[in-house]
Amino acid sequence: MQYNAKVMDHFANPRNVGEFPDADGVGEVGNPACGDIMKMSIKVRDNVIVDVKFKTFGCGAAIATSSISTEMIKGKTLDEALKLTNKAVAEALDGLPPAKMHCSVLAEEAIEAAIDDYLRKTTGKGLEKKKHHAHDEHHGH
Ligand code: FES
Repeated sequence: MQYNAKVMDHFANPRNVGEFPDADGVGEVGNPACGDIMKMSIKVRDNVIVDVKFKTFGCGAAIATSSISTEMIKGKTLDEALKLTNKAVAEALDGLPPAKMHCSVLAEEAIEAAIDDYLRKTTGKGLEKKKHHAHDEHHGH
């Protein structure tokens, strides 16, 4: 399995690692395919994600995608951040090996979960509709 230079850079020097003791929203998601876990913490002011940190217990692609996705959503409105797709994250990394595309879904889902948590805390109501992802084939639990 070959990772390109950009993926290796974000894996070796991940940006925005950690969490906030006073986060406005926290989202933790797991990848059912491998058991890896990603946690995103966001700080929100006036509907804008002013800061974001992540902790990922997972493979190199999961760490690289969470790292670059924090850079992509910082300074964005909640709506803009929700539009970030795992495909866009993978493209920003100049691509992932096909077998590793599923890892990038975690970043998209963790951001969505953090925003959902923020909305629940501030408005009492979470995101209206959940997006559906590549691992929809896991039915029946
Ligand atoms: S193998 Fe688990 S997220 Fe990549």
